[in-house]
Amino acid sequence: MEKIVILTGAGISAESGLATFRDEGGLWAAHRIEDVATPEAFERDPDLVHRFYNARRTQAARVAPNAAHRALARLQERHGGEVVLVTQNVDALHEAAGSRAVMHMHGTLAGALCARCEARWPAPLVMSTQDACPVCGAKATRPDIVWFGEMPHGMEAIWTHLEEADVFAAIGTSGNVYPAAAFAQHAGRAGAHTIELNLEASYNTRDFAETRLGRASQVVPEWVGAVLGD
Ligand code: OAD
Repeated sequence: MEKIVILTGAGISAESGLATFRDEGGLWAAHRIEDVATPEAFERDPDLVHRFYNARRTQAARVAPNAAHRALARLQERHGGEVVLVTQNVDALHEAAGSRAVMHMHGTLAGALCARCEARWPAPLVMSTQDACPVCGAKATRPDIVWFGEMPHGMEAIWTHLEEADVFAAIGTSGNVYPAAAFAQHAGRAGAHTIELNLEASYNTRDFAETRLGRASQVVPEWVGAVLGD
């Protein structure tokens, strides 16, 4: 049976009510990456960085998965072959829709990380610079988010999955941020059929054999239906 590897980005959660990064009115229109999403920003002004992620955590806790998240959970459940789900998203909407083993390559809002000893634990809804690490006691706790300049999680396993893929699908991602933006080329060269499902052609659209444009809540269930043959 076909092995399917899927990469999702902010576009899949847009219709649930979470802002994307690069669309008009997106998060990077209101905040500079270098102020809130780098290790240097956290050293310079940890309160500002916590406020940014606290707001996102609070908002993410209020929203529900949409038809696209649910369709991917159904694909994982019904497809005879392996379905690997990699997301750049830090929300938990795939899990809320029933997906299992979601690879959060950019980390998760649900996690806290000690910058001193690297312990991880579930994040409270509101994090603060006064929180102490439950393991070493340092007041150096940060969101478990991969910031610019840091290495995304699980890359070795992800490259291997891409090499083994029969189908690679990128959903709701602009193709601006590496290494995720290189996945289509990597999988395509290794022999996978590559498909993008996005509102508009992504930055790396030429790396895909097939493009289906539209809202995720529409094009993803359609694509899943075709894969499952129903
Ligand atoms: P972007 O905001 O860069 O791109 C979102 C994509 O989703 C765009 O191409 C939109 O056209 C598309 N889109 C918007 N609404 C959609 C809808 N309803 N249905 C389908 N597609 C839709 O977000 P990402 O590509 O996920 O990293 O961004 C990648 C990374 O950049 C993020 O993980 C984050 C950010 O900086 C970090 O914070 C490390």
